[in-house]
Amino acid sequence: MFETSEKMKKLPPYLFAEIDKKRKQLIAEGHQVISFGVGDPDLPTPERIVRAMQKAVEDPSVHRYPFGKGRADFRKAIADYYKKYSDVHLDPDKEICVLIGSKEGIAHFPFTCINPGDITLVPEPGYPVYQIGTILAGGIPYLMPIVEQNHFLPDLSKIPQNVVEKAKILYLNYPNNPTSACADIDYLKAVITFCKKHQIIILYDAAYHEIYFDGKRPVSFLSIPGAKDIGIEIHSLSKTYNMTGWRIGWACGNEKLVSALATLKENIDSGTFEAIQIAGIECLAGPQDDVEEMRKIYQKRRDVLVEGLKKLKFEVKIPQATFYLWLNVKQNSITFAENLLLKAKIIVTPGVGFGPSGEGYVRFALTVDVEKIKKAIEKMEQAISEV
Ligand SMILES: Cc1ncc(COP(=O)(O)O)c(C=O)c1O
Repeated sequence: MFETSEKMKKLPPYLFAEIDKKRKQLIAEGHQVISFGVGDPDLPTPERIVRAMQKAVEDPSVHRYPFGKGRADFRKAIADYYKKYSDVHLDPDKEICVLIGSKEGIAHFPFTCINPGDITLVPEPGYPVYQIGTILAGGIPYLMPIVEQNHFLPDLSKIPQNVVEKAKILYLNYPNNPTSACADIDYLKAVITFCKKHQIIILYDAAYHEIYFDGKRPVSFLSIPGAKDIGIEIHSLSKTYNMTGWRIGWACGNEKLVSALATLKENIDSGTFEAIQIAGIECLAGPQDDVEEMRKIYQKRRDVLVEGLKKLKFEVKIPQATFYLWLNVKQNSITFAENLLLKAKIIVTPGVGFGPSGEGYVRFALTVDVEKIKKAIEKMEQAISEV
């Protein structure tokens, strides 16, 4: 009789898959659902990128196994992007490895350095894959609460010494999912100093680096002196270019860490379809007006949602980046989300799903157009007045 492994048994149900199941079920029952649940852009991939892919796919030379760290021309485009926007120098041959989406790299990286019983330092609330990757690699996640009083940054001084000594990886993600917080230079410098002292690798998840508001570009982790000594940054085209379905991202930074991940990947996958990598060159090297336009769209949505929630008397912290709004609802997050679903057919993600310190919060993804956001506010107002 088939029985799953002990590691599989330790995995929680994948939060966003569960939410999507619920959404589909309600739609099948004939309800009009407004979903702020999953962070999956509703906007299409820009046409210039779709065209680049269509052209690329016609060339039979890209139909074969891609293998290796990724196409040299795409890795060069990545290096040029870092130079141009963040003044970071990366060697395309040694310090960049293309991924099948950043989730893939995040999930696989612990296999390169975790031995049974090793600890990883995982922010919570946070993207679930840091814990999942650790568990599957045989490690033990140590959860670092990120709370509003500390600007949603892990307080490293609170990690017990015996945990620090056994820690192999520290995960950081700014701009942050789910809290939308950003990390400043001084904080990142302090983390780098701490991790260098204790020989801890930093896995920096920069998936939302390009989604920022009010013209305030987030700090680039790799631009901070010393980052490359111990850090690997994982980045993605998913959110910047509305390409979640395409599955493309990259790891970059410390040569040894990048190379270990590339070696692991050579053994378990065969790389990212080359036509997608060619489209990736168009993403980064082409004109960025569409990205600017998309930021404006999210900013408008943010403003409409913030205004609406304030009208409903919520205390709202205005997001400076990401397409999330992290709302303190001052009550049990699951009860709040369930009530909203039941009474208004609105999906939000209960904060506790991202970790115990997410209790009391819910996450709204701004992947819903302005008209629907206005409608959602009306429905919420009605639902609240019925309580
Ligand atoms: C913080 C964070 N990192 C990584 C990812 C994965 O993105 P992808 O695998 O599409 O590159 C997500 C997706 O939601 C995310 O929220």
